[in-house]
Amino acid sequence: MTDLAGQHGLTFRQDYFGDPLAWKGLVDLLQDTFSIDVGVQDQFGGPDPSSMPFGYFDADGRCVANFSAFSMPMMINGRAIKAAGYQSGAVRPEWRERGLYRDLMQRAFDRTSAEGYELDLLLTDKPALYERYGFRTLPQHVFIAQAPKPQKSDWTARQLSLEAPDDLRLIKTLLQGRQPVSARFAVIRQMEMFLLNACFNPAIRLTAIGDEAVIAWTFDGATFWLLDVAGTAIPSLSTILPALDIEPDRIEICFCPDRLDCEVSLEPYEGYTMLMVRGKAADDIVGPIMLSPMAEF
Ligand SMILES: CC(C)(COP(=O)(O)OP(=O)(O)OC[C@H]1O[C@@H](n2cnc3c(N)ncnc32)[C@H](O)[C@@H]1OP(=O)(O)O)[C@@H](O)C(=O)NCCC(=O)NCCS
Repeated sequence: MTDLAGQHGLTFRQDYFGDPLAWKGLVDLLQDTFSIDVGVQDQFGGPDPSSMPFGYFDADGRCVANFSAFSMPMMINGRAIKAAGYQSGAVRPEWRERGLYRDLMQRAFDRTSAEGYELDLLLTDKPALYERYGFRTLPQHVFIAQAPKPQKSDWTARQLSLEAPDDLRLIKTLLQGRQPVSARFAVIRQMEMFLLNACFNPAIRLTAIGDEAVIAWTFDGATFWLLDVAGTAIPSLSTILPALDIEPDRIEICFCPDRLDCEVSLEPYEGYTMLMVRGKAADDIVGPIMLSPMAEF
């Protein structure tokens, strides 16, 4: 690899999240680039411990460029897949077009390939940037469900708050011990993004039904969006709706609904970003899929 750090008076660092100042440097880079504050993760236990950040820092300790890989095990057609996600890709405007991003991507891809990851996943609004590295776009679909016959529910539903320590503990326990929400296409374990996505979007409600599952959902009075279910078992849709005590006109399920025991039709999902994949397990992904918005990264 060419010595980009030497050429530009920068310092290359990897796996630097143990250094609070360097972590703060990345938080600032992402705040300035995307107007998001990933520093809120500090309230929930910090960033994903599987993160493999690659970054360039200037003489003042500012992070000027970063690209991170992280471990995101996936369940795909009943098989557990060793998958990597890529995120936090940004270069400060005054440092762009000098090959810093190309260099960081290459380092991250070399690392995950050496570590035997079978699948690479990313979300982007710039697919052309990644096509040259063998990524292809996976179309996503939302699943429109017929309202099931209302059933009497014995579940006690309870609204959870990320700010209540007991609630946060329950959510984390369920995320750690969860059954993947789908056997066809779902994350096996991903805690940090679930918490961050819930925190970023105040419309998302987190409701515990019993102590066995937390439902992530939104409802505008007519349409119900079922975003994720983190539980040791996945309750059926006909159990979830009465527990939440809603009777929506329209039900949109934002993940593969094979464990929900319901009839669905498909609609293309038009998101702001595209889901891209590559790797030897990429061809195992068949049929309509959607990555839960709670796993978005
Ligand atoms: C996109 C971004 C990371 C590129 O950083 P950079 O350091 O200027 O990129 P590099 O100089 O290393 O160029 C890498 C390659 O990407 C290409 N590229 C750069 N910006 C691109 C864009 N917007 N769309 C498509 N390709 C792009 C370059 O042409 C170059 O191609 P090459 O390897 O064939 O020569 C930077 O512009 C940025 O931070 N943008 C805002 C945040 C963002 O969009 N991040 C990516 C989120 S998925």
